[in-house]
Amino acid sequence: MTSINLKDSVVLVTGANGGLGIEFVHQALSLGAVKVYATARTPRDWGDERIVSLQLDVNDPASVAAAATTASDVTVVINNAGISTGASLSDTDLTATRAIFETNFFGPLDVANAFAPVLAANGGGALLNVLSVLSWIGIGDAYSATKAALWSATNTQRLALAANGTLVTSLHLGYTDTPMTVGVDAEKNDPADVVAAAYAGLAAGEFEVLADELSRQVKAGLAAPVTALYPQLLEVSLGATA
Ligand SMILES: NC(=O)c1ccc[n+]([C@@H]2O[C@H](COP(=O)([O-])OP(=O)(O)OC[C@H]3O[C@@H](n4cnc5c(N)ncnc54)[C@H](OP(=O)(O)O)[C@@H]3O)[C@@H](O)[C@H]2O)c1
Repeated sequence: MTSINLKDSVVLVTGANGGLGIEFVHQALSLGAVKVYATARTPRDWGDERIVSLQLDVNDPASVAAAATTASDVTVVINNAGISTGASLSDTDLTATRAIFETNFFGPLDVANAFAPVLAANGGGALLNVLSVLSWIGIGDAYSATKAALWSATNTQRLALAANGTLVTSLHLGYTDTPMTVGVDAEKNDPADVVAAAYAGLAAGEFEVLADELSRQVKAGLAAPVTALYPQLLEVSLGATA
């Protein structure tokens, strides 16, 4: 088991200006990281010499490649950037669905591929993909599909990057109190708790971090018949024939 302690690490966070991103940056430093690359579409001044602000748009392969060249000392990559939109798999015009896949699936894939050789060169390190409980339950429409697709990719990466000594960990969480969920009226996790669970998972060498009870319940439900996660299926009558 590869244990990844943040002490003396060099961390790179995508989407660092967001709710979880800010927590990933600050908690990395609290845990002893010597440097954090806080990457964003629009970098800002963090007022801390340990934080290096870097431009990185996950939809722009040139900016991802440039960041991988600049941040050649990285040992932990936090693939955090993501969007939640109203994109629907049922739309006749799938432009919005393709757009959310660009940011939530192809973007993190590009980041992982660009940084895999960097992590390998620096001893292995870790890649943390920020997924969701919706990797396992399709109630978020196109958004869920992006997180399910990235979960599949993450499983492939776990095996592929193990050869480099890189720990690939997925983070699964339900509603968390960040700008992404401002319009959501529901109980939400504290982003500080989610990030603390994620870094504790890396320290324990976990391949998967289930940050809340909902994520644990839904993951457990995968082993049951599909109607356990989708009980509404029991209420509908499907194409009854005489
Ligand atoms: N909050 C939740 O309930 C929840 C639940 C499950 C999973 N998640 C996942 O957690 C991650 C972080 O989300 P959050 O809750 O912290 O939301 P957030 O506050 O909206 O932060 C998302 C960040 O991603 C950045 N981003 C969006 N598109 C990008 C791109 N093309 N390139 C680089 N950065 C980009 C945004 O940058 P700008 O500042 O430039 O807009 C923003 O800073 C996401 O992957 C999300 O899907 C969140």
